[in-house]
Amino acid sequence: MKIAIVGLGYVGLPLCLQFARSGVNVAGLDIDPRKVGAINAGRSYIGHIPGADIQRLVAEGKLSASLDFALVRGVSAVLICVPTPLGKNREPDISYILKTGEAIAPHLQPGALVVLESTTYPGTTENELRGVLERGSGMIAGRDFHLAYSPEREDPGNPGSRVADIPKIVGGLTPASLEKASALYRIAVKTVVPVSSCRVAEAAKLLENVFRGVNIALVNELKVVYAAMGIDVWEVIAAARTKPFGFMPFFPGPGYGGHCIPIDPFYLAWKARQSGQETRFVELAGDVNAAMPRYVVGRVAEALQAAKKSLAGSRVLLLGLAYKANVDDDRESPGYQLMDLLTAAGAQVAYHDPHVPVIRPSREHSAWAGARSVPWDRATISGFDVVLISTAHEAVDYQQLADWARRIVDTRNIMAGRRTGSGKVWKA
Ligand SMILES: NC(=O)c1ccc[n+]([C@@H]2O[C@H](COP(=O)([O-])OP(=O)(O)OC[C@H]3O[C@@H](n4cnc5c(N)ncnc54)[C@H](O)[C@@H]3O)[C@@H](O)[C@H]2O)c1
Repeated sequence: MKIAIVGLGYVGLPLCLQFARSGVNVAGLDIDPRKVGAINAGRSYIGHIPGADIQRLVAEGKLSASLDFALVRGVSAVLICVPTPLGKNREPDISYILKTGEAIAPHLQPGALVVLESTTYPGTTENELRGVLERGSGMIAGRDFHLAYSPEREDPGNPGSRVADIPKIVGGLTPASLEKASALYRIAVKTVVPVSSCRVAEAAKLLENVFRGVNIALVNELKVVYAAMGIDVWEVIAAARTKPFGFMPFFPGPGYGGHCIPIDPFYLAWKARQSGQETRFVELAGDVNAAMPRYVVGRVAEALQAAKKSLAGSRVLLLGLAYKANVDDDRESPGYQLMDLLTAAGAQVAYHDPHVPVIRPSREHSAWAGARSVPWDRATISGFDVVLISTAHEAVDYQQLADWARRIVDTRNIMAGRRTGSGKVWKA
């Protein structure tokens, strides 16, 4: 059996590896020649994915990568894992899905299966993707080829989270499409969860991400409220989570980041407006979470004021630039907002992140492109007026930080339980 996986990023690459490990011949397709070249050379370009796995599967002939979409002619299924960002006005940008649909349609064979994995609003598979595939192939979905939606659930940087063990929701355009897609995923994934339509599968993914966004907003709000009452929200969460039912802990932070939680809920909000509905929880959670970087910068200013210093002219080190612990993914990281706000307040800002040695050029953060992670040694770290912990990577020695730093603002509660001088650590 041979399949194609389009989009070899954080979602597509692990999926390629899991299918290839399960004995399926996988052709990875992308428009980025560096990724294609790296895979064929047996190299990884994602920090938490070992190159050795890629190398072995390429050597066994189970995995290859290409820029040539004509390869779709020779496969029985195409899985699409391309980006779904927001446009300038926070509206869904499904252009990557549509371009992919256009690129594969002329090569699609009768009886083949197309599955969309990208996160998107309900209706994308049945309407927009189906439209481009039918126009480009001259075939009818559900009759001449199969169409399905199956959302990805990735927990990057969590070594306990393996594609094979994460249940996979699948919705099909027709019962036959559902059956075909379920059978495919059962080869690589232990549990397949069939649902009645592509729209239900799309909506389930959005529920999962809205749920996280809303709960993170709740604890972020409570962090600020409880701090004003002299109560430590982290201790409150630790106590509350001992409840054996009806509670699930979420943790506050400096904002929210990554490619999912700050973006996907707005796909739902946009689509809901088309149906004349409001998504007030989504909007409110977005507002609360978006306000966090300013709150954190305010705490940095307070920590400096306590030493009769102001943000203007102070040297601030941002510790942890990736959006979550133990990954090298800095997209949509609140770290950038923190660095921008601190810089705007007149601080001299640098960063340290063992997973992000240098900031890559990007449209969003062009001002920081080329900046390098400062070295991790006593002389460097003690040279900063304050260290702001934005992301708590395990690769950082926090006892050394406690020993070296003059003062620390901790948004992750990672300094709890370390030996620090009194008044050195400020929670934010
Ligand atoms: N990263 C996560 O943890 C995660 C988790 C669940 C769902 N998702 C969703 O999965 C989708 C992909 O996310 P990602 O994080 O893997 O993105 P990514 O940016 O890491 O990877 C996307 C890949 O698609 C390629 N690409 C772009 N346009 C293309 C085209 N026209 N044809 C072929 N390839 C193209 C890019 O070069 C890139 O390699 C998004 O919808 C995202 O919301 C991501």
